[in-house]
Amino acid sequence: MSAIKVPLARPSITQAEIDAVAEVLKSGWLAHGEYNHKFEEAFAKLIGVPHAITMNSCTSALEIALKVAGVKGDVIVPSFTWVATANVVVNVGARPVFCEVDEDTRNVTAQTLSAALTPNTEAVIIVHYGGQACQMDDILTFCEEHGLLLIEDSAETLGATWRGRQTGSFGIGCFSFFPTKNITTGEGGMLTCQDDEFARKARALIAHGISSTTLAREKAERPWLRAAEMAGHNYRMPNPLAALGYHQLQRLDEMNARRIRLAARYDEMLGDLPVETPVVADGATHVYQMYTILTDPDIRDELLRYMRSENIGASAHFDPPVHLQPFYAGLGWNEGDLPITERLSRRIITLPMYPDMTHQEQDRVVEVLRAGLERLL
Ligand SMILES: Cc1ncc(COP(=O)(O)O)c(C=O)c1O
Repeated sequence: MSAIKVPLARPSITQAEIDAVAEVLKSGWLAHGEYNHKFEEAFAKLIGVPHAITMNSCTSALEIALKVAGVKGDVIVPSFTWVATANVVVNVGARPVFCEVDEDTRNVTAQTLSAALTPNTEAVIIVHYGGQACQMDDILTFCEEHGLLLIEDSAETLGATWRGRQTGSFGIGCFSFFPTKNITTGEGGMLTCQDDEFARKARALIAHGISSTTLAREKAERPWLRAAEMAGHNYRMPNPLAALGYHQLQRLDEMNARRIRLAARYDEMLGDLPVETPVVADGATHVYQMYTILTDPDIRDELLRYMRSENIGASAHFDPPVHLQPFYAGLGWNEGDLPITERLSRRIITLPMYPDMTHQEQDRVVEVLRAGLERLL
C-alpha cells in the first residue's frame, strides 16, 4: 500500500456551505446578524432547551456561564481535559479543584466529583470527553444535594445523549466549533440554558453589556440607543461564521453517523492488537469526536513518534493533564495527586478520526499502528 498521509482531523465542508458563506459576505452584514438567530434557533431545538447563544468560542461560553452565575468559590473540574476548562475558573477569580475521571470512559462520575467536594464548592464543570455523554443521573443528584451549579463542557460532544437527552440540556451547556469538533465554524461556540434571565444576562455580557442586538435595534423606535447595563465583553460570533454553523448543523446527524461507523470499524480492526478500544457506558451514546485507545505506558511515546514519522497524525488527548501543567503545578498541584488521570495521560493515543475519512486512510492508520506495536513490544 502506498504511504499516504492521514491527518488527525479534517473538517468536512461542502460547496453549499461555501456558497452560503459567500452569500453572506456579499450581503455586507458581516457582524452578528440574521444567521446567528437562525443557528441559535436550530441549535436550541436540537438540544431541547429554550435558549442557545452563539459565541466566539467554547472558552467564552464557559467563562460567561461562571460570570452570569457570579461564581467566586471552588469549582470542581477534571484535569483530564483541555486547559480551557480550568483557565476560565481562574479567569473569573474562582479556584479550580481537580477531580479524577473514570479510566474506561475518561469521564467524571458522581463519585469522582464527590471526592473533590470542599466546603467552598459552588459549581462543577463536567466534560463530556471526546464524544461520549457523562452518566448524568448520579451527577444531577450530586449537584442537587449540594446546591451546585452544573456547567457542561460539551466542547467535544455534540449530538450524544444520556438516556435520550442531549448533552448540554442538563445544566448550562457550552459547545465548541473548533475545526476538530463535530461541527465547525473555524473558531466559535454556543451556550445553552433553560432560564430566561440567565440567557438575557449572557446575551448582554457577550455584547458590551447591552442586551438588545444590532438587528433588533434596527426595528426599534430609536435605533441609536445603546445602553450598557454591565461592563460586558465582545464575545459574539460573526454572521458569516453563523451561516457556516447553521448549515453544518443540518449535516450533524450524517457526519456523526459516519464517525460512529468508522469507530465500529476501528474496534473490529484493532480487536487482535494489545490496545484497549473505547468503552461506552450503559445509557450513554458516543459520537466519536475523538477515537482514543489505551496502550502500554512504557511504549506510548515511542509509538506516537513512530506513527508520526509514518505520516499518521496520531496524538494524545491529554498529556500532560492540566494539574501538572506549569501554571497549575505552581498553584500547588503535584505528581501523584490524581493517579488515574496521570496514568491515562501516559497511556492514551488519539487516532485520526473525521467524517470524510476513507477506508484506505483508516486501513493505513491500523497498518502503521500494528507495525509500531510489533516493533516496540
Ligand atoms: C474539553 C474542551 N473544553 C474547552 C475547549 C475550548 O474550546 P474553544 O477552542 O472553542 O474555546 C475545548 C477545545 O479544544 C475542549 O476540548
